Amino acid sequence: MNGIISPSILSADFGNLQKCIELLNKSSAEWIHLDVMDGVFVPNISFGLPVVEAIARLTVKPLDVHLMIVSPEKYVEAFARAGANILTIHWEACTYHHNMIQHIKTLGLKVGISINPATPVMLLENIIADIDLLLVMSVNPGFGGQKFIPETMNKIRQAKELILRKGSTALIEVDGGVSIDNAGEIFAAGGDVLVLGNAIFSANDPIAYIENLKSLKQ
Ligand code: DX5
Ligand code: ZN
Repeated sequence: MNGIISPSILSADFGNLQKCIELLNKSSAEWIHLDVMDGVFVPNISFGLPVVEAIARLTVKPLDVHLMIVSPEKYVEAFARAGANILTIHWEACTYHHNMIQHIKTLGLKVGISINPATPVMLLENIIADIDLLLVMSVNPGFGGQKFIPETMNKIRQAKELILRKGSTALIEVDGGVSIDNAGEIFAAGGDVLVLGNAIFSANDPIAYIENLKSLKQ
């Protein structure tokens, strides 16, 4: 299967968001990654429902919404209404994971669980077969433009092993410090979906950059 590219708009120019989405619409990126941050779960505040609604009006690409918020159970229905297609909550922000997964599915969304760098993959053993996406954070969440944490490569391999062992169809998404320099290795380790913010929006030609990324998945 080809690698999926999900550009994160966190590093985009928010003064020209429509232009940014029009550029992504022209690109071969399959999804658009929206980093919602509440300033509590992570030490930063990004954007919320009005921005998700506005972007949903500007694109037909699936919105890959990454909730870096506490109490995500309070907001999943609102994000579904706002236009999210894939909704990822953090393992660390949730108590009743199995219940949350079922709830997000009943809303007709694809469901993801994200784990921070210090959170072991094996914690997901009992729900890996129920989710559509396992988001392996390769930075501590909260900011774009950080350096990829090298130990993540091994977590991706562990995630792949768990998915195969449990017969799960979950895709592995890798998020944070991803670039053309490590994308090939991430794909080889088992990554299916790459999230990139800074690398894409600081590129001279973001569309060509995205094209080059896709060619790295054998
Ligand atoms: C960080 C976000 C990432 C981030 C990726 O908490 O989850 O999606 O925006 O940005 P880069 O690619 O700039 O590291
Ligand atoms: Zn993200």
